[in-house]
Amino acid sequence: MVKAVVCGAAGGIGQPLSLLLKLNPIITELALYDVVNAVGVAADLSHIPTPAQVTGYLSPDNGAEKALKGADIVVIPAGVPRKPGMTRDDLFVNAGICATLAQAIANAAPKAFILVISNPVNSTVPVFAETLKKAGVFDPKKLLGVSHLDVIRASTFVASVLGKPTEAKEYTIPVVGGHSGATILPLLSQTKPAIPDILADKEKRDALVNRIQFGGDEVVKAKDGAGSATLSMAQAGAEFANYVIDAAFGGKKGKIVQAYINLSADAGGDAIKKEIGADLDYFSVNIELGPSGVEKILPIGELDDVEKGLLEAAVKELGPSIEKGNTFQPAPP
Ligand code: NAD
Ligand code: LMR
Repeated sequence: MVKAVVCGAAGGIGQPLSLLLKLNPIITELALYDVVNAVGVAADLSHIPTPAQVTGYLSPDNGAEKALKGADIVVIPAGVPRKPGMTRDDLFVNAGICATLAQAIANAAPKAFILVISNPVNSTVPVFAETLKKAGVFDPKKLLGVSHLDVIRASTFVASVLGKPTEAKEYTIPVVGGHSGATILPLLSQTKPAIPDILADKEKRDALVNRIQFGGDEVVKAKDGAGSATLSMAQAGAEFANYVIDAAFGGKKGKIVQAYINLSADAGGDAIKKEIGADLDYFSVNIELGPSGVEKILPIGELDDVEKGLLEAAVKELGPSIEKGNTFQPAPP
């Protein structure tokens, strides 16, 4: 019996993400919340014969808290997407939406796993954490910034460079750091199976790293004003949510993924701070999922010289984005 909630469920990501979650047979309740059209999307999905019972809620009459009541997992793709010429940082307007949703989660589902998709992830995750801390319900093991789209992009693009586009699923590349341009740090040297030919070819490698770091811009440009990645994000978001659900409620052990998380000492983040040589409050790291969420934070591991340079650039850009989220003051209700 798992209750999942999608906040921002009527949007470009929200609708296909809700569809994919409706197809997960472990989910028995699926509540959809949005400021528009959530009831319609819920009615539509409710005709699919899978176990999840779907309900939709709009904002009047405390709709958010009604949707969230008793949630085990909340996935959040609420907020404005990019248009060409914008950076993710330009989306910091989404901070207010995130603070409001975090407060609703604190009130109605303080023990839920919270998966943040809304951009800029590097700042919105700290906004969630600060709101939850103020409400006295922050659990760093359960707040996960979703950077999984970078991970699926890395597999797809590596396979394509190798001339094996149909075998993308065979390639595992940890992507750490953050979720924006230079903060996205693909660890190509740790690719499994190894890709020595790409590592040895500087031009090929640089182009590949650039494509992974700026994959989001590729979609924004192609959509030409109609938004950013929605379908690939829905797939990445559902896959990631299903990993969390399987580990927390399905008894599946040992799943290692990357997510953008709080590096507090309580959560075991000190070792990562040492590894990256920076006192950052957040970083996307290797984690082992389990019943409590982040069961273990695992080492980033050895970096080659190229990656050491990329790490420096990532750390430099991440610091101010985290600070922006940490110090955000929501407008009074
Ligand atoms: P969209 O505009 O299509 O959908 C956003 C939805 O959020 C809309 O339905 C809107 O009504 C809803 N919304 C707005 N305010 C809300 C509130 N207060 N409460 C609940 N819902 C609210 O946008 P999209 O393309 O689905 O993108 C959503 C967000 O996800 C953007 O910020 C985008 O940048 C981000 N994104 C993140 C990643 C990632 O890798 N983490 C990938 C793609 C997009
Ligand atoms: C992405 O990586 O596709 C998302 O963060 C959306 C964006 O603005 O690029």
